[in-house]
Amino acid sequence: MSARKPIRKAVFPVAGLGTRFLPATKAIPKELLPIVDRPLIQYAVDEAREAGIEQMIFVTGRGKTAIVEHFDIAFELETTMSERGKDLGILEATRFTPGDIITVRQQVPLGLGHAIWCARAIVGDEPFAILLPDELMIGEPGCMKQMVVAYEEVGGNLISVLEVPREEVSSYGVIDPGEVRGALTEVRGLVEKPPASEAPSNKIVSGRYILQPEVMRTLEDQEKGAGGEIQLTDAMARMIGGQPFHAVTFAGRRFDCGSKTGFVEATLALALERDDMGEEVRAIANRLLG
Ligand code: G1P
Repeated sequence: MSARKPIRKAVFPVAGLGTRFLPATKAIPKELLPIVDRPLIQYAVDEAREAGIEQMIFVTGRGKTAIVEHFDIAFELETTMSERGKDLGILEATRFTPGDIITVRQQVPLGLGHAIWCARAIVGDEPFAILLPDELMIGEPGCMKQMVVAYEEVGGNLISVLEVPREEVSSYGVIDPGEVRGALTEVRGLVEKPPASEAPSNKIVSGRYILQPEVMRTLEDQEKGAGGEIQLTDAMARMIGGQPFHAVTFAGRRFDCGSKTGFVEATLALALERDDMGEEVRAIANRLLG
């Protein structure tokens, strides 16, 4: 098999206002809300890194600069910690080679498709990944790594999917599934936020993508879709047929951290699994449930 162009860049759309988490997100980007002690965005960035991705492109907006600060070197903090003999290892995941954290601004919230299009000059002419940090994917290997492995096999465009109860599909992008081969499903069609009665399946797009650069040209003239927004799903739908298009069913767990209950569930689940606090959290949970 011929070697494919490696996936070196990932785009993280982080310009959203996070209104569902107000007032917490009035001054703090929702992507920095922590699940235990790690901000949501850090989980997504770590997942990308595990998949061999080097450059992280944040599509940000006003009030989101703290995300970039998070991945910068905090000189005063590090100097003070070093002087006091404290271990800096905890900050390791926030360190980047200079030039590998890149931001572009989405000046107006016109939708996910528009957000991705804002990164076109930085993505250039190579396949790239997209990770939506609201979707917290926990697995070994991680979701993006599983997708990169599938990409090396089939190339083209890939999205991660998972099955949800029928009544929930109207909040998501939904695939029209074709032939299934192991974790891979051929994608015959895509529709954004269909009414449950019209949805082609209950397999939803779960926030991870590997796309060919042509999607940027497709987004160029993409018309508004569901919710009056420029939808990435609609642009991808137009690419089906021209290039291979597959869905990868993620072997792992997913938490919808765009919702408050999903956020609490993720916090509990990950806290229960931690060596340093799992036992204590279990005791607390049992006590609370009485
Ligand atoms: C976006 C995508 C949708 C996808 C979802 C996953 O929707 O447009 O296709 O299923 O993320 O969370 P949003 O949550 O931005 O409305």
